[in-house]
Amino acid sequence: MATGMLHSHYLFVVLFTLIYLVKTILLLSDKDELLEKFKKKTRILEMIVSFGFLATGIYLMVKLPVIPMLLIIKIALVFLSIPLAVIGYKKKNKVLATFSFFLIIVAFGMGEKTKSTKAGAKIATVNGKEIFNDKCILCHGDNGKLSLNGAKDLSVTPLNHAGIMEMISNGKNSMAAYKDVLTPEQIDAVASYIESDLKGK
Ligand code: HEC
Repeated sequence: MATGMLHSHYLFVVLFTLIYLVKTILLLSDKDELLEKFKKKTRILEMIVSFGFLATGIYLMVKLPVIPMLLIIKIALVFLSIPLAVIGYKKKNKVLATFSFFLIIVAFGMGEKTKSTKAGAKIATVNGKEIFNDKCILCHGDNGKLSLNGAKDLSVTPLNHAGIMEMISNGKNSMAAYKDVLTPEQIDAVASYIESDLKGK
């Protein structure tokens, strides 16, 4: 369900961006008549696309246990670009229109970046907290108490350091094995972070 939603969201975002790309090009090349025609022709489509874009976006967002900072910035950019675009196209202000299009593209690029930091991607940091926030927070929550996808509450884990490392390396049930994603040093660091900052808190 969530993946289907994600695909629809991408489709709406791409359509939305394409409509804006055509509009921006027409405005910049002073094709006022064509722009008016295009706006009229795509009015309904644009309404459907914008609605789909927001509805799927909101649906996906409420499913997330934590909302990453990058996503907040992305949403802020999208919401900032909307009034700028409305004013820009109404007043035929090229600077505003181009700037709002630029904001949409930046937000789009950020979406791509969030994707690449997903579960299986290798990371460079050896800071336990950073590793935890990147890889584990989705199911365990920032304080370790969240139990998404059947995750165990880390604040009451009976496991010792070796047990925690073994759990992270090899996984269990819906928790993936991290031995190919994290280095032994990173697994050690995140295990220490759980023991010092989450366990018994
Ligand atoms: C996809 C969700 C998910 C992610 C992401 C995830 N876990 Fe888990 N975790 C689980 C589940 C589910 C369990 C319970 C497994 C079982 O015992 O059936 C678990 C259990 C654990 C346990 C054992 C707790 C206990 O008391 O038995 C530790 C430790 C742990 N996870 C650490 C981590 C660390 C560190 C990360 C990041 C590197 C991580 N987890 C990422 C789902 C997840």
